Amino acid sequence: MKILLTGGAGFIGSAVVRLAIARGHHVVNVDALTYAACLDNVASVAEHPNYVFEQVDIRDCAALDGVFAKHTPDAVMHLAAESHVDLSGILRSTPRTMFFS
Ligand SMILES: NC(=O)c1ccc[n+]([C@@H]2O[C@H](COP(=O)([O-])OP(=O)(O)OC[C@H]3O[C@@H](n4cnc5c(N)ncnc54)[C@H](O)[C@@H]3O)[C@@H](O)[C@H]2O)c1
Repeated sequence: MKILLTGGAGFIGSAVVRLAIARGHHVVNVDALTYAACLDNVASVAEHPNYVFEQVDIRDCAALDGVFAKHTPDAVMHLAAESHVDLSGILRSTPRTMFFS
């Protein structure tokens, strides 16, 4: 299966990318490479023939249309986000504040 995965350079997305490649899927990783991204997390699959990286902001509809037309994925997994859970923990003082504010 060819999976178009957004946020594949993030914490969760990169783990899914590695798992999907290990299970024999094709992966198109669409990530804008914001502050939260870390391409080191997908370095182990970067040269794999089933892996493609597209640096695209998913808010850019024209660019995203181009990615869909180019790769014709079978499925989409949307994991791009501004969340960056680690940073949330640093910016807010305590776990209680983080979860209940
Ligand atoms: N980390 C967790 O423990 C956890 C737990 C449960 C659910 N989630 C959910 O999983 C999702 C991903 O979380 P994460 O921790 O991997 O986040 P993350 O911040 O580590 O990664 C997000 C990725 O999305 C990319 N991104 C952000 N805006 C983008 C845009 N406009 N276009 C393209 N790419 C963009 C970033 O560059 C980054 O690589 C979120 O919806 C989060 O709520 C995370």
